[in-house]
Amino acid sequence: MQIIENQSLKLYNTFAISANARYFAEIHSEAELKETLQQNTQPLFLLGGGSNILLTQDFDGLVIKNSILGKEIIESISEHVLVRIGAGENWHQAVLWTLAHDFGGLENLSLIPGTIGASPIQNIGAYGVELKDTFHKLEAMEIATGDIHTFTKADCQFGYRESIFKKALKDKYVITQVYFQLTQANHKINISYGAIQDVLNSKNIKNPTIHDVSNAVIAIRSSKLPDPAKIGNAGSFFKNPEIPQAQFDGLKQKFPTIPSFPSEKGGVKVPAGWLIEQCGWKGTRRGDAGCYDKQALVLVNYGNAKGAEIWQLAMDIADSVEEKFGIRLLPEVNVI
Ligand code: FAD
Ligand code: EPU
Repeated sequence: MQIIENQSLKLYNTFAISANARYFAEIHSEAELKETLQQNTQPLFLLGGGSNILLTQDFDGLVIKNSILGKEIIESISEHVLVRIGAGENWHQAVLWTLAHDFGGLENLSLIPGTIGASPIQNIGAYGVELKDTFHKLEAMEIATGDIHTFTKADCQFGYRESIFKKALKDKYVITQVYFQLTQANHKINISYGAIQDVLNSKNIKNPTIHDVSNAVIAIRSSKLPDPAKIGNAGSFFKNPEIPQAQFDGLKQKFPTIPSFPSEKGGVKVPAGWLIEQCGWKGTRRGDAGCYDKQALVLVNYGNAKGAEIWQLAMDIADSVEEKFGIRLLPEVNVI
């Protein structure tokens, strides 16, 4: 394991922001991770695929790039199968691996960028499914001691774009392995998200398989989300706000077309993309920083935007949404 000084992070973040790390180490095993942590270089930043971060400055510490690999079938119990996947594995490639084995459960989460190890951090979700629906347990190394601890689903305290690793245990653990419980028969097809149904109808697919669902999700995502290989971005920049029913009722009177979804917390979830579009930001551009023209919730770097410029645009968007709707948008992306 080698520690590199002054490493450019431009190729390590999907926003393609130019910023340097004072020190940078890529680890391939728990042993290498432990050795790196024992050097006690501070501050630390744990990097997966860099698809949910915005770098607003150089990082004056050690960036640890997690490249622990491995995909294994652990056990098979009647209709279910337990698989273990290394934290450094690419999320979408891992999903394709489960599909190649005809294991069901992750198909709605196809094509999400990033690594397996970051997926529990914000309990990734898309098209009616969240990580927590198939998550079994994870192993993580405690930064302070180098000990490996196991976290069950209950331990992780998953919520909408939330987990204990963003709250009480923030920056305390490095996730090393994630276990998923998948189906190997009687798959539970989830086509509750309207757009999936539309794609299946257009192809005249009446009884979709997990492969059909995956293909539909890939088609929808490709049509409205920018490919980070072509336009820098980190997916949704803000979370969809969850507000009390009474506040929503007031907004509905003033803005009758405001869309909404039920929130798991009991209130109402309002699509931030709609709020941003109503404020006139969709498709606008300030230098190389912009608000994507096909999806207003996605901020983009058209070339050489600085992280601070994207952040300024994000704050101006949040201010105007707050002024018009009285709702403060909170970033979903991790700002460094
Ligand atoms: P990084 O960006 O590298 O890190 C994210 C956070 O996790 C950081 O705080 C980091 O320190 C921490 N972290 C990373 N690895 C570890 C580890 N092993 N142990 C402990 N902490 C760690 N997200 C969704 O939920 N749903 C979507 O539909 C979705 N669509 C997207 C579409 C696009 C085009 C893009 C660019 C992003 C999208 N995202 C989506 C966001 C992103 O893909 C996820 O958040 C993903 O899980 C981030 O993985 P990563 O490896 O790139 O994490
Ligand atoms: N909308 C607009 N204008 C826009 C964009 C959206 O009006 O420009 C409204 C529409 O009413 C639309 C609704 O918002 O029906 C929902 O839009 P979409 O289906 O595109 O989903 P989203 O709420 O914008 C969320 C996740 C995505 C995830 C999709 C699909 C969050 C913060 N984002 O986006 O996750 O892929 O649903 O499930 O929850 C990510 O986290 O990075 C991400 C991309």
